[in-house]
Amino acid sequence: MSQKEHLILGIESSCDDTSAAIIKNCTILSNVTANQEVHKSYGGVVPELASRAHQQNIVPVVDQAIQKAGVSIEDIDAVAFTAGPGLLGSLLVGTSFAKSFALARQIPLIDVNHMVGHVLAHFIDDPEKEKPTFPFICLTVSGGHTQLVLVRDHLDMEVIGSTIDDAAGEAFDKSAKLLGLPYPGGPLVDRYAREGDPEKFTFAHPKVPGYDYSFSGLKTSILYFIQNQQQKNPSFIQEELPHLCASIQQAILDILFKKLVLLSEDLKIPRIAIAGGVSANSGLRKRLEEEGKQRNWKTYIPKFEYCTDNAAMIAVTGYYMFQNKQFTDQRVVARARMPI
Ligand code: KG4
Ligand code: ZN
Repeated sequence: MSQKEHLILGIESSCDDTSAAIIKNCTILSNVTANQEVHKSYGGVVPELASRAHQQNIVPVVDQAIQKAGVSIEDIDAVAFTAGPGLLGSLLVGTSFAKSFALARQIPLIDVNHMVGHVLAHFIDDPEKEKPTFPFICLTVSGGHTQLVLVRDHLDMEVIGSTIDDAAGEAFDKSAKLLGLPYPGGPLVDRYAREGDPEKFTFAHPKVPGYDYSFSGLKTSILYFIQNQQQKNPSFIQEELPHLCASIQQAILDILFKKLVLLSEDLKIPRIAIAGGVSANSGLRKRLEEEGKQRNWKTYIPKFEYCTDNAAMIAVTGYYMFQNKQFTDQRVVARARMPI
């Protein structure tokens, strides 16, 4: 690997966060994200509004990232952007911007898979964290995906199991909606769960073969349970909110860990990482540490700021692709679906 220092601009716009980062090899110099408040009142991301907000945010966000990094635009060696998977209208904004930037500056263009980015967030330099050694298993849990990934090398990974319906993040957000909590409910369930009893209520667990996941049954089970209880006591949710959140969170974590443990045992790989927005969940982080101690795993938990969508993870992936000369060109298009 070349020891020369390279500066990469990373762009992320796959959902509702517009983000830009500058990385020098694996060291983040800046990572700027504009969140979109506009979706809150709709109870979920509205694709058309997300796309419009990205258009407004992209130039100031990139500008800030370059300024914060203290670099000059002429020093940037390549631009890496999220090409997919995600919302097409959102992806188009980052893709078009990155293409124009690369064309204007005459520098290489790198199309990054968002899910690979989540995994490679573990390779961002951090003096307080050890980077994973290969092979390892990464449980990638976000609003759109739930994947058990076998990671053989930085750019050699395989999805071994995934959800057949809802993602883990959706399970959190949809359950939160049933409890009357605003979108995105995942972080709120996390917060209330800290004061609740996780054993107070139990919900149905899916029976899916192999390493795949399913969360739609859990949502239905929660819905019927709440409807039933509210008939007896209309203030059931208000009175039991922390216990409900703790029990729902526990059910989601139990489902996630069952397959994770199975895969680790079957592959005999004791190195386990988590990634994606749901890896910000305090219960998941604690549980991974506990299971890790009990099972003699080496565990890898990403820094909070690199769990939810961010351009730093796209920039670090861009760095590894740059090293491999994995470039694309002006014909590249955004892809709503993009397998690893
Ligand atoms: O990775 P991400 O930012 O976007 C996607 O690529 O989907 O993940 C967003 C998801 C949302 O469903 C959000 O509710 C969930 O991550 N999330 C959490 C927490 N923080 C974010 N879920 C549970 N507990 C959290 N602390
Ligand atoms: Zn994501």
